[in-house]
Amino acid sequence: MHNIGTKSTSFVSSIAQQFYEDVTASEEGMLGDFAEICNVDLEGSRQFLKRFGPGKAGTHCALDCGSGIGRVSKGVLLPVFEKMELADMMESFLLHAHEEYLGDDADRIETYYCFNLQEFTPPKNKYDVIWMQWVACHLTDKDLMNFLMRCKKSLRPNGVIIIKDNMARQGCKLDPIDSSISRHLDIMKCIISKAGLQVLAVERQEGFPEVIMPVWMIAMK
Ligand SMILES: C[S@@+](CC[C@H](N)C(=O)[O-])C[C@H]1O[C@@H](n2cnc3c(N)ncnc32)[C@H](O)[C@@H]1O
Repeated sequence: MHNIGTKSTSFVSSIAQQFYEDVTASEEGMLGDFAEICNVDLEGSRQFLKRFGPGKAGTHCALDCGSGIGRVSKGVLLPVFEKMELADMMESFLLHAHEEYLGDDADRIETYYCFNLQEFTPPKNKYDVIWMQWVACHLTDKDLMNFLMRCKKSLRPNGVIIIKDNMARQGCKLDPIDSSISRHLDIMKCIISKAGLQVLAVERQEGFPEVIMPVWMIAMK
């Protein structure tokens, strides 16, 4: 089944949306100026997922939020989960995922949701893992907290949510180019706790160039 979920009719004219209109549907586009970190990033994610995936959470279905073209789905999630769903605000990225990037694995994508996450309610009681990579930084504190609350309801028993994102060395840091906001890990933990979720583990991604802001993975349930 390959549904493209209905795009919300509400008009969201964000700087981020305009920014991603000009981003190519490619791994380079998903990673900005740092395409060379792709393999290290995927390997770090695979290792982190092992701590919460098979044997702990189920392997039936995962949701990739802010999936872009499905880079994480392809490299981390599809090898583990029977079925997957992708959610992203950019239709062009989802189409590229389905028509080209995911190849034959696209047959195992049940639904592509073309939505802004702040307006998206994932189906209840469906996912063993919900992965959010480099997209929490595009949501305000309130939108992120509310989205996490909705995600919590869409987890299956033993399911986990994993956020992987840039974390500011102190306070919050706004990037005016793509209007993303990086938060200190403690601030992120505070939002997670306000959403009624419990942090299971945090781990810093190793092996990235020093110039890159620290990237952390947080698992929660
Ligand atoms: C830096 S890319 C990361 C893509 C993918 N997670 C990866 O790691 O390769 C950020 C993605 O988030 C999407 N995005 C940004 N803001 C969003 C929002 N509010 N709702 C849904 N998707 C959003 C963009 O369209 C883009 O595909």
